[in-house]
Parts: sequence; structure tokens; C-alpha cells
Amino acid sequence: MPSSAWPRTSWCHNPLRHDPAPMSTINTFMSFAICLLVFSNLIAPASASFFQLPFFNNPNPSIGENTTAMSVQKYSLPPLPYPYDALEPAISKQIMELHHSTHHATYVTNLNAALAKYSSAITSCDVPDQIQLQSAIRFNGGGHINHSLFWENLAPQNSSDTKLATAAPSLSAKITETFGGEKQFREKFTAALLGIQGSGWGWLVKVEGATKEPRLAIVTTKDQDPIVGPGEVPVFGVDLWEHAYYLQYLNGKAAYIENIWTVINWKTAEERFKGSRSDAFKVLKASL
Ligand SMILES: [Fe+2]
Repeated sequence: MPSSAWPRTSWCHNPLRHDPAPMSTINTFMSFAICLLVFSNLIAPASASFFQLPFFNNPNPSIGENTTAMSVQKYSLPPLPYPYDALEPAISKQIMELHHSTHHATYVTNLNAALAKYSSAITSCDVPDQIQLQSAIRFNGGGHINHSLFWENLAPQNSSDTKLATAAPSLSAKITETFGGEKQFREKFTAALLGIQGSGWGWLVKVEGATKEPRLAIVTTKDQDPIVGPGEVPVFGVDLWEHAYYLQYLNGKAAYIENIWTVINWKTAEERFKGSRSDAFKVLKASL
């Protein structure tokens, strides 16, 4: 069938293509493209201002026409690995319930909405809309990533998982090698957290190079920017948004930080330190 016989109101004409690909093939590719776009955006370093859109200068003549709206996989709010009151007295039940069931849930809802619009924008070849939606995907996708990791790297303070030396022997040795000891590490991490202006996160990050031994770094990020740079594995994170502490600590940010050391899940941190990047993000795949 000549290409002129195909409707052109909802798809992009590709003069290199003569036969329509089966819709299953198109949908499979588009699903892959959506995932690629989302994670290209999220894994881009903070300095990156733009990521490549796969339908610019489409190199593959088998795609790019006769595409229709497709379904996009939706993320869901992952359950907490403990009850809402499990982290008291370090973090109150009220904060945990609001933080998880409203704040995190809203990031998930808004991420799904942005991805659905993004899917439509790709289908309709609406590049301005694709660009406009990138900030919403980064912010809400980052919020979902950060909180999913955060819940998992906390534990009740009477748990054996909160003892660095016994729960995380490999990480403990690396912390001593890097910072001089647990006390010195806590002081440096706390100083970094207190230095965050506005809303953000503090992270201990394992940075893997192509040939070098992995190293540890203390990293702060603004708003909901996630730790997704090349070779970066988030070991544990601390939420420094006011919604994480204000109801209990008011403006006592330092007291919140001092107490959160009692509920860091070093067992999870050890697993992330010894594991790969995909191991650290497995909680996200579980929330699809
Ligand atoms: Fe938060």
C-alpha cells in the first residue's frame, strides 16, 4: 500500500518506509524507547541539560510511522519494610505515615501521569511537549527513586542491622580507609547534610571506575535529583526535605540528623556497597 494511503493525522511520515511494521513490533520498540528515554533522562549527570530523543533523525526506517497511542507501565508505591511507628523515637509515626502515604505516593502518581503524556507526545511526534515533560519526569522519577531507596536503608534502632561494625564489615573497613573511622565519617556526612540549602538529599555513594578500585564519596543533591551518574551506586541516603523532619523537630535539623544515625540500616548499605548498580535499584523494578 502506498504510504500516501495511510492516515497522517496521528503519526509521523517516514519516507524511507514502505510497509507498516506489525503493531506488536512497534509497541515493543516503543515500550523500550520509553524506558530508554526515561532512564536516559534520570541517569544523566546533573550538568546535562538535554538528552537525545530517539525520533530525531530516525536512523531506523522500520519505525516512525503509523504508531498509535500505547500503554505505559505504571509504577506503584512500594510498601514500607516496617510499620509506620517502627522508627520511633528517631522518626515519628506521624511523619512516616504522611511521608510515605502522601509525599511518596504523589511522586508516583505524578511520574505515571508524566510518562503517559510523554508516551502520547512521542506517538504524535510532539517534540515541544516531549521537552516540556522532561522536568516533570526527572523530578517525580527522582522522588520515586530516592524515597524507595531511603525506606530500605532505614531500620528500627533496636535491630542488629543498625550496627555498622557487625552489619556491614566490608563497608565499615572502606569507611575507615576513606574517612579515618566511623566518627570522622559521621562528622563529614553531617556537615554535608547541614550545608544543603533548601530541599535536598545527602548520600554515601560508591563510585566505580573502569579500572580503579571503587571509592566512597559523600554527595548532596538538590530537590529530587537522584544518584544515577555513570558508575555511581547509592549506598544510603538521608532525606533533608522539611517534610522529613519538621513535624517532629521543627527547625532542629541538626537533631534530626543526629537521631537518624540510630536508624540507618547498615545491612542494606553493605549489600548496596558490595552489589551492582542494578542491585541497588531492584526495589524500583519491584514497584512496576
Ligand atoms: Fe521526602
